[in-house]
Amino acid sequence: MRRTPRSLASPRIVNIHDLRHLAKRRLPRVVFDYLDGGAESEVTLRENCRIFDDVTFRPHQAVAIPECDLRTRVLSADLTFPAILAPIGYSRLMHPGGEVAAAAAAEEAGLAYTLSTISGHKLENVRIASKGPVWYQLYLVGGREVAEGAIDRARRAGFSALVVTIDTPVAGMRERDPRNGMKELLGGSIFSKLPFLPQMFTHPRWLLSFLIDGGVPKLENIVIPGKGPMSLIDVTAALAQAVVTWEDIRWLKRIWTGPIVVKGVLTADDAKRAIAEGAAAIVVSNHGGRQLDGAPATLKVLPEVVAAVNGQADVLMDGGVRRGSDIVKAICLGARAVLLGRAYAFGLAAAGQPGVTRALEILRADVERTLRLLGCPSVSALNSSYLNIPNHW
Ligand SMILES: Cc1cc2nc3c(=O)[nH]c(=O)nc-3n(C[C@H](O)[C@H](O)[C@H](O)COP(=O)(O)O)c2cc1C
Repeated sequence: MRRTPRSLASPRIVNIHDLRHLAKRRLPRVVFDYLDGGAESEVTLRENCRIFDDVTFRPHQAVAIPECDLRTRVLSADLTFPAILAPIGYSRLMHPGGEVAAAAAAEEAGLAYTLSTISGHKLENVRIASKGPVWYQLYLVGGREVAEGAIDRARRAGFSALVVTIDTPVAGMRERDPRNGMKELLGGSIFSKLPFLPQMFTHPRWLLSFLIDGGVPKLENIVIPGKGPMSLIDVTAALAQAVVTWEDIRWLKRIWTGPIVVKGVLTADDAKRAIAEGAAAIVVSNHGGRQLDGAPATLKVLPEVVAAVNGQADVLMDGGVRRGSDIVKAICLGARAVLLGRAYAFGLAAAGQPGVTRALEILRADVERTLRLLGCPSVSALNSSYLNIPNHW
């Protein structure tokens, strides 16, 4: 692994919150808030993080652990610790390296990467950037014919799983975005952009790299027949007509021969339905608090879903993971691995690939330290006996 640049090393960057601060300094407000914010009152966004404090550890003291084994296996992919990089749309706005840089950092760390449909880089280039496992996250933007084109390309490029997000029948109302001029940044006339330009000029490093990269990227994996790649400005409207139903999952099972991961499950009933429709794994997720505000924190519903799944599929979870101890708590409650969202995206926005590498290095070291402090020799040995779970859960 490469040496950490000084700007990302301790004592400047000690945890994920430090990377968030660095991202906030580098990005114009419109891009930072797009990454950082959530839907409406942001109750679910906050609760996703806070809920980890409700659960405390029960360490087994005075245990020597010569070798600590952090490895796990998800859908035949070996991971060096139980984390997968979640799909993050518009990554290329955060840093020109975008999805390619994140995939390369995932490979370097021995983790899997999930590419969002809303990607500024071609899926083939993302695949080339990582020899490790890469999954393709599907939205039905543009309809089934467009999706078939992307799925075919993903299969040929060697993506090993299809992640179908079911919590986005419309885009959530992220109130920071209209206030900051997100729509105007992505499209619109120069006159409509004018009120929002000062935030760009106060972030010249980001602005320069954005301009050199060619400005607002096209969505290279949403190719409309006869028209070419969709532009970013059209995607919100297109998402509103892209609801995924169980009937779509059945159709996807017919055209994608690899494993299907259903992302966005929050109840036992939907978990059972996903398995009945053939999902190989499910992700307990509320989209990082960006869709339905008032949806429960994911850690809280994880035990209900794990019980319903009863070992018939891998259960993954995401939302609010900012420390390795959060990962350990989720594993103790029955998750096979977590998906990291903002935790790595802050690193990407702060410094491109080295920033993602630093985020993953911090989280890996956290997981190992937490296991040793718990007196637990391996991730596979974690269970609920290492936790105090509040009575009111
Ligand atoms: C900026 C941003 C963009 C996202 N884009 C997508 C996406 O394109 N597809 C998707 O399924 N989930 C998307 N998500 C949700 C993440 O995959 C993941 O569920 C969420 O970030 C987990 O919460 P966390 O950020 O608190 O870790 C996005 C999240 C963020 C923060």
